[in-house]
Amino acid sequence: MPTEKVDQQKSVAAAFGKQSHHFETDDSSNLVLQEWRKRIYSHVNQFIKPKSRILELNAGTGIDATYFARLGHTIHATDISNGMIAKLKEKASVFSGNISVQQVSFDQLDNVGGKFDYVFSNFGGLNCIEDLREVTRHLPGLLNEGAFVTWVIMPRISPWEWTWALKGKFAEAFRRLRKQGADAHLEGEYFYTYYHSVDKIERSFGLDFQLLKSEGLGIFSPPPAAQNFVRRFLGLTNFLTRFDRVLSKISPFSRWGDHVIVTVLFRKKPY
Ligand SMILES: C[S@@+](CC[C@H](N)C(=O)[O-])C[C@H]1O[C@@H](n2cnc3c(N)ncnc32)[C@H](O)[C@@H]1O
Repeated sequence: MPTEKVDQQKSVAAAFGKQSHHFETDDSSNLVLQEWRKRIYSHVNQFIKPKSRILELNAGTGIDATYFARLGHTIHATDISNGMIAKLKEKASVFSGNISVQQVSFDQLDNVGGKFDYVFSNFGGLNCIEDLREVTRHLPGLLNEGAFVTWVIMPRISPWEWTWALKGKFAEAFRRLRKQGADAHLEGEYFYTYYHSVDKIERSFGLDFQLLKSEGLGIFSPPPAAQNFVRRFLGLTNFLTRFDRVLSKISPFSRWGDHVIVTVLFRKKPY
């Protein structure tokens, strides 16, 4: 593996390892994240079949794995970070049989065995990799025919961030458009974040996958990081959130936002 990639993955694993200790407290106290998780679940629940076998990428502490296990699905939860894996193992011991855990990077899914009905990746884990094809190339071998893949990823167009330009913060406002990735600083660790357009995500899957739905999160409403804005302007936040919910399903807004929810169907073409 090239040194830059090893360094990127080491820094990412270290940063999220440190974050794992307070990840769930931060998550449960953030109103925007709570609302978005509900929207993501209602998106997935349109497609997922009862008792599905789910492969979860960058599963973090297992918030979503727990949600899906409670619905009767079986989850193989994977992540790169030691700290996150320790939290996942605690969850797996409670939901014995429904959650299994494996420490693996999502570009090394050839180390994962079995066949799955659904692949799920939430909240930007896949923004830690530059080329999504390093992940998608493993999927056909892991999926049952008719399987779904839902990824929640940070896209390149985020109108909320453009408003930073009004405050003179041009570099931050347009950081998502940088081809070579933007610098990320988390828990004292430095790594790159790569923003992926829905077109690029769709292309990365190739011909055996069909885009079913894309939905924007945080198009004009504040993102999870804007907690001060949310506290000060709760009425306006609620209005913008309702406005977003309507727009989020209409193109091009369905492809914009702080994050997008993208679902594709795996249907192997007869060649
Ligand atoms: C923002 S957290 C999201 C966690 C979880 N999906 C959630 O929604 O709560 C991003 C996660 O991506 C994981 N991650 C980043 N790069 C990874 C990689 N190459 N392979 C597997 N997991 C990775 C991190 O360790 C972290 O747990």
